[in-house]
Amino acid sequence: MDAGTRLFRTALLGLAGNRAARKLSERYGMRLGASRFVAGETMEEALGHAKRLNDAGIAVTLDLLGESIQSLDEVKVCEIGYVDLLQAIDREQINGNVSLKPTQFGLALDAESCFESIRTVVREAERLGLFVRLDMEDSPWTDATIGIVRRLHGEGLKNVGTVIQAYLYRSVQDVKQLSAERINLRLVKGAYKEPGSIAFPAKKDVDSNMRRLIRARLESGEYTAIATHDESIIRWVKSYARSRRIPRTAFEFQMLYGIRTPLQESLAREGYTVRSYVPFGRSWYPYFVRRLAERPANVTFIVKSLFKR
Ligand code: FDA
Repeated sequence: MDAGTRLFRTALLGLAGNRAARKLSERYGMRLGASRFVAGETMEEALGHAKRLNDAGIAVTLDLLGESIQSLDEVKVCEIGYVDLLQAIDREQINGNVSLKPTQFGLALDAESCFESIRTVVREAERLGLFVRLDMEDSPWTDATIGIVRRLHGEGLKNVGTVIQAYLYRSVQDVKQLSAERINLRLVKGAYKEPGSIAFPAKKDVDSNMRRLIRARLESGEYTAIATHDESIIRWVKSYARSRRIPRTAFEFQMLYGIRTPLQESLAREGYTVRSYVPFGRSWYPYFVRRLAERPANVTFIVKSLFKR
């Protein structure tokens, strides 16, 4: 990554956490071009997209957007939202599960009530035979997020897993330990702004650590969700699995809604399990800005689409 791109990315990720910018953007609804990455503001819209993806042979993980909430009242709203979502997935027979963010459940406000609320959601999912994944946010929450998943597993709730980010130095150790504990993991490169003291600053090092984590996880024999749009990594996974006789049922590819859709469809046609991450809801702003920061060309796309209206 050159210095200009790095500066651009840092500036955008700074904006993701900016409350004034968030309020202003959300007021203008999806007109800023967010609808390319966000599957609507309501559950009904998201379920419609989920059904269309299922029809193309693609599973989904639905994410009711929200993070860094400000009051415990919002936690209850979020918990009810997720319970409703799980019941709708079951009712509508969607091939899917859910992803949630711990700070959306008040991790920064009250860790215990966050845990209890997430447990309510995981219990409801267990009752319905569904799975819940705790997304991984920025590094202040890494230990706490893993801690919540471990505690739930300790209570016998095995239908919950989390995410490990290849940009963090600690992740090799985390994958090793969590695989030994048989915790379901999604592996990603990492989407937040992290200091060089804890995360690889160079993209090439993140990419090679991603391969290292995937290899370690596949070798552990535990189910692996490989979440990337990086075609060279996807090609490498396919040939690595073939050469090591790792069955296709041992892993799945995950990609984000609206990104590399033809690739998602072609992998599904080839017989791989593919899952699309389908975010929806009114609090789409920080998610949207992280997608822009991943690829400068997205900003050009958004600016062009504004002028087309
Ligand atoms: P990379 O950034 O190298 O991109 C490879 C290629 O993919 C690019 O050249 C481009 O063509 C395409 N691409 C990538 N991003 C794009 C974008 N935004 N728009 C258009 N094209 C794009 N992160 C995290 O920290 N915690 C989490 O819990 C999750 N969860 C998660 C779930 C799923 C299903 C996915 C796919 C990703 C995440 N992420 C995440 C995000 C992840 O960490 C990472 O930021 C993005 O996936 C981008 O990295 P890639 O692996 O795609 O590679």
